[in-house]
Amino acid sequence: MKKVTMIGAGNVGATAVQRIAEKELADVVMIDILEGVPAGKALDMVETGPVERYDSSVIGSTNDYSPMEGSDVVIITAGLARKPGMSRDDLFNKNAAIIKGISANVKKHAPNAVVLMVTNPLDLMAYVCFKETGFESNRVIGMAGVLDSARFASFVGMELGLSVKDISAMVLGGHGDTMVPMPRFTTVSGISITELMDKETIDQISDRARKGGAEIVKLLGTGSAFYAPSASVVAMAEAILLGKDRLFPASAYLRGEYGYEGFYLGVPCVIGEGGLKKVIELKLTDEEKAGLDHSANAVSTQMKEVGLG
Ligand code: NAI
Ligand code: 2OP
Repeated sequence: MKKVTMIGAGNVGATAVQRIAEKELADVVMIDILEGVPAGKALDMVETGPVERYDSSVIGSTNDYSPMEGSDVVIITAGLARKPGMSRDDLFNKNAAIIKGISANVKKHAPNAVVLMVTNPLDLMAYVCFKETGFESNRVIGMAGVLDSARFASFVGMELGLSVKDISAMVLGGHGDTMVPMPRFTTVSGISITELMDKETIDQISDRARKGGAEIVKLLGTGSAFYAPSASVVAMAEAILLGKDRLFPASAYLRGEYGYEGFYLGVPCVIGEGGLKKVIELKLTDEEKAGLDHSANAVSTQMKEVGLG
């Protein structure tokens, strides 16, 4: 059995662990700073096994990282979630300190793992982890594009009255208000949505996707989305654990791809055994490239503002 460590046993973390256990993808260790909570949630999930018929081991740990030794994949969801009115960027300082501490432990206890970052602000936290662990960049990947694309796909399905089962969406760029839904690469059974919807409708649902995180934050009143985020990061973990070589939009460290260098940004990635295998460079139209440039600029500007890079 493969081994996954989840750091952060909150909404996204615990829900992702539940999905991993139910799919029997790996044995799981769940670590948090809260006393009792990771152990309690882990035991609750173990006790679900006889009902749901899975036997993945799930253990919880408070502040002790030694149980994570030998992990194949480490998922980081520790930190603060956005509150209403709070931007992802407001989270930077508090979450950066948390991610630095966690990265040192990952480096020490799971030096061969692939790390999937979830904590916000996503593209910056992936960079902090990349730097602090010293891992090769193919072993530190940020989850955002799978989620943002799932939101876009959901809105396409709602608009067209079609099952989401046939919809594949692509959202690139930073995980923030500048993210770039790509209608040309968003398809229903292979048909681009540009063939199925007018531009005004596409613009409306693109805008809704860009604000998809905030829409849920507002509805929940406290905390942020976790069902779709947990499913999204588990899809990436599954591709790594099972060596599936899937093509996902994900936040990757760029070294000249699309003309950007030295920061993390959402791009199409082949993800499989060992982590990021390849960044796919698409030929973009002028309008698409302008959108991506705008988003890349927002991420790199924010990096400079907080003294990264
Ligand atoms: P949550 O508040 O439910 O859980 C966070 C957990 O982290 C808590 O249990 C807390 O005790 C723990 N924690 C705090 N400091 C820690 C440390 N030093 N070590 C270990 N654990 C620590 O939050 P939720 O909803 O699970 O979100 C987690 C993070 O994921 C947030 O930053 C949120 O903004 C981000 N997020 C990112 C998404 C993406 O698309 N990349 C999507 C959804 C959430
Ligand atoms: C989301 O998009 C909070 O970034 C998180 O739901």
